Amino acid sequence: MGITAAITAVHGYVPDYILTNQELERMVDTTDEWIMTRTGIKERHILKEPGKATSDMAVEAINGLLKKRGISAEEIDLLICCTITGDLIFPSTACIICDKIGAKNAWGYDLGAACSGFLFGLETGNNMILSGKYKKVIVVGGDKMSSIIDYTDRNTCIIFGDGMGAVLLEPNYEELGIMDSILHVDGSGREFLHQKAGGSLKPPTHETIDAGEHYVYQEGKTVYKFAVTNMAEVSREIMDRNNLVADDIAWLVPHQANKRIIDATAERMGIDSSKVMLNIQHFGNTTNGTLPLCLWEWESQLKKGDNIVLSAFGGGFTWGAIWIKWAY
Ligand code: UT7
Repeated sequence: MGITAAITAVHGYVPDYILTNQELERMVDTTDEWIMTRTGIKERHILKEPGKATSDMAVEAINGLLKKRGISAEEIDLLICCTITGDLIFPSTACIICDKIGAKNAWGYDLGAACSGFLFGLETGNNMILSGKYKKVIVVGGDKMSSIIDYTDRNTCIIFGDGMGAVLLEPNYEELGIMDSILHVDGSGREFLHQKAGGSLKPPTHETIDAGEHYVYQEGKTVYKFAVTNMAEVSREIMDRNNLVADDIAWLVPHQANKRIIDATAERMGIDSSKVMLNIQHFGNTTNGTLPLCLWEWESQLKKGDNIVLSAFGGGFTWGAIWIKWAY
């Protein structure tokens, strides 16, 4: 029997401060009703504490993870940090996290695939385990989206929140764990969802700051159209190519960007809404954090052998689906 990579623990963290639709109504020209019907979001958590960044949320999630699994940080071989809001442009947030948690024997790096980052990180971690060289790999994903959101722009400020989740990957010999993945990028979609300045294309200047180019820019309707088609399609494709029918699927873990995209994905897969993890109403879109935060919230309901499909769509464009057999 060959080895597979399985998730053996999961934990999450969201900051205390809750930004409600009612508070947003006082900040921009919007209504709770508009936000709820268009997105399904009621509130999101925001990291307000000065001096705290993405790495601090990761530390909370990872420390909880290590405690649950009963292992020390020194046992970690590799840490992959999936984020688009790293603490600094460089060094990588993975370096900072490893230092803060005391993962002295680990190496690590950041991975950037916007809202699909956690999927890409899982596939990367999976292959690191399959190589036989690494036994304990942490994939941590999440964002301090509030650090790149313009809270005067009603098109984007209502959507995003802050939060982080982490999983531990270990070798499995029972044919459980990550079974298949389908991942895609299409960079021709970059103009519809991006941050205009701050990178090497347009380093920050007074002008870029004045123009608000260090904030998230999104053409919502266009992104919606691509997301709703591609996330549904890839989720169906991973079922079909593995001969999985709707009854075989215990859970869909969808990226939490918009409830309407999630509903369309579930419908295309033919699965009932009772099998869909949905926490967008409380957390909003935490970008790299949505999938592990779902697994964290639903962990106690998951059973060994459960077929779980994770799927996401995000800036890039990036998208994909991963099929997991839950291992504990
Ligand atoms: O996670 C990464 C991938 N991202 C996504 O998957 C996001 C995909 N896009 C979406 O989820 C949706 O496009 C949004 C939720 C961002 C927007 O919903 P929409 O139904 O596509 O609205 P829209 O952008 O077409 O705007 C419709 C109207 C516009 O007014 P007019 O031009 O029709 O008069 C907007 O100005 O709604 C207006 N509007 C708002 N009204 C109240 C836009 N934002 C707001 C707002 N409150 N917050």
